[in-house]
Amino acid sequence: MKKKLSMERIFIGISGLIGAGKTTLATTLAEHLGLEAYYEPVGDNEYLADFYKDIKQHSFAMQIYLLNKRFLQHQQIIWQGKGGVQDRTIYEDTVFARMLMKSGLMDQRDYETYCSLFENMSNFMCKPNVIIYLDVSPEISLERIGQRGRNIENEIGIDYLGKLHQEYEIFIEEISRVIPVIRVPWDQFRNVEEIASAIEREYRDTSFLRQVVKWGG
Ligand SMILES: Nc1ncnc2c1ncn2[C@@H]1O[C@H](COP(=O)(O)OP(=O)(O)O)[C@@H](O)[C@H]1O
Ligand SMILES: [Mg+2]
Repeated sequence: MKKKLSMERIFIGISGLIGAGKTTLATTLAEHLGLEAYYEPVGDNEYLADFYKDIKQHSFAMQIYLLNKRFLQHQQIIWQGKGGVQDRTIYEDTVFARMLMKSGLMDQRDYETYCSLFENMSNFMCKPNVIIYLDVSPEISLERIGQRGRNIENEIGIDYLGKLHQEYEIFIEEISRVIPVIRVPWDQFRNVEEIASAIEREYRDTSFLRQVVKWGG
């Protein structure tokens, strides 16, 4: 019989395009489950405004800044041992980095340095127990960015979001081989209870023990 695991110390990563609704869900879900929310730096992000003014010039610095911030959050979540809800996972920065490199907005050499640093750091990372992917179309993402009206995001266009969305699809496919992913169509918002029970179901029904080598086979 499968044992129901406690949701008390669960580490949940919330993933999705810009404006998908991560921060909002992180807040309500953390409250609902009695966990701490760990937010993506926005207002206090020292590079964000410069990044959107001149992406090419600041792409590498921005990625290093975020990697450092998210690594710190990871360590806090793990070492405090209480679980938590993280508003965007550390893995998604690599989605941005790859998209920027492919679009000519990040130097190939910088991208390789970034990937190498990420790989070295990932040896010290514990993975989230589950990732919730809020799947929205680039069009909806753009609409929500417009609605929330953050001035620094004015320059983001459908082309940028389309490329990002493509990279997200690749990322979700890859990460789901190592971390259970709950993919939620989020073009229309749903209530938090629905998401919470989907996580509970996933947690109850999934065997986290993966057999990699068969004896005698
Ligand atoms: N469940 C929801 N119901 C209604 N509006 C929402 C919901 N989630 C997000 N929004 C709105 O969508 C926009 C983007 O949400 P946000 O959580 O800031 O996205 P992200 O953190 O993914 O960039 C915000 O204007 C927010 O108020
Ligand atoms: Mg946010």
